[in-house]
Amino acid sequence: MLTSDEVKQDFPIFESLGDGYAYLDNAATTHKPRSVLEAINDFYSNQNSNVYRGIYRLSEDATDSYYRARRNISDFIGSRNPDTLIFTRNATESLNLVASSLGRGLKAGDEVLISIMEHHSNIVPWQLWLPEGVKLRYVDIDSDGYLDMESFQDNLNGRTKIVSLVHESNLLGTINDARELSRIAHDNGSIFILDGAQSVPHMPVDVERIGCDFLAFSGHKMLGPMGIGCLYGRMELLEGMPPFLGGGEMIREVYRDRSVWNDVPQKFEAGTPNVAGAIGLSAAVNYLRSYGMENVRAHEKNLIRKTLKMEEESKINELVSYGPRNPDNRGGIFSFNIGKISPIDLESEMLEQSSMKIGSAVHPHDVASSLDRERIAVRSGHHCAMPLTHRLGVVATSRASYYIYNSESDVENLFQAIENVAVKYHE
Ligand SMILES: Cc1ncc(COP(=O)(O)O)c(C=O)c1O
Repeated sequence: MLTSDEVKQDFPIFESLGDGYAYLDNAATTHKPRSVLEAINDFYSNQNSNVYRGIYRLSEDATDSYYRARRNISDFIGSRNPDTLIFTRNATESLNLVASSLGRGLKAGDEVLISIMEHHSNIVPWQLWLPEGVKLRYVDIDSDGYLDMESFQDNLNGRTKIVSLVHESNLLGTINDARELSRIAHDNGSIFILDGAQSVPHMPVDVERIGCDFLAFSGHKMLGPMGIGCLYGRMELLEGMPPFLGGGEMIREVYRDRSVWNDVPQKFEAGTPNVAGAIGLSAAVNYLRSYGMENVRAHEKNLIRKTLKMEEESKINELVSYGPRNPDNRGGIFSFNIGKISPIDLESEMLEQSSMKIGSAVHPHDVASSLDRERIAVRSGHHCAMPLTHRLGVVATSRASYYIYNSESDVENLFQAIENVAVKYHE
């Protein structure tokens, strides 16, 4: 397994950032290795043309590269049929696609079950696309940050047509037992959708083994380019679903008053696709495969174990963090606060813009900007999981999230910097 320093050599951005810069915002987006940048550059330099449409060599080459990218990425997530992988812009669009195509077909009285630990992209599409009278229910979490299985069973019933859950929480780091959740959903006769935006980049994910009906993820969170994402779907379901967007390529025939849809996956890929993005993501998959997904997971587990240990040993009394304490069930995500700012302390709108200390608490935005001065990049805010931050009784947190180029010394620097902030604000 390569060391994090060796990995960094493959990422040009670390040359420009210079030594000692700790990029700890990988849950938001990841950096790109040289091989990904070269693959994109190579497409535009040597193959650029539109796919499917041209009866000339360049277009046939581009179509072929696009197909090979689809096959490689579908293979990476354990699907044997490349046509079950639809290219989208990102996980958000993938989830909108399912919520729109499947959700619109539900009837008043039906229910969709999600959880309180979802990212907005697995909440808002349901609010947007479900017809009137279809109920959106939420599974709760327990006090340790796990999905509450009693609440899951309580909310599941004969009306639950769809269960859509996150695999790894982008705020708590909780890794849900996707296989078990899928089994329970299927036993109930529900369709099971998995939001893999934080799991596909960080651990081996196999759709056949999990048994999910759909899996959504984003390229940019797994060393690939921005603007490309994927939706895996079970072929029987995809074939029966109406399209999401209309336009070129998704049709076979168009008349004045109606159209005949193309086959899957083209039915769901209206317009000119992001061919360079797909090729770049395929190169990212090759990079991750050569590092080994088991190794990615082991590396991050080691970093989160060290993080939790350093937190326990920390002298900062006000330090609070969220999520499971067992690294076996937790990804490389550490959300924390220095003191607690609850929604009732201040109107959340004010807090979003403020820079202040409330009692012994330091606003997460101030934590992030202080850390930035020490060349540590963390995110602060609600992390697009407002129902969860409110459930935790806070308006925001700071969040460090790791990847293969992070090292134990990044964790040590993080804690030193957190201590510096606590001292500065409390002196
Ligand atoms: C769990 C989870 N789901 C979905 C998304 C949405 O990803 P994107 O913004 O790439 O569509 C994110 C992004 O942070 C996420 O963490």
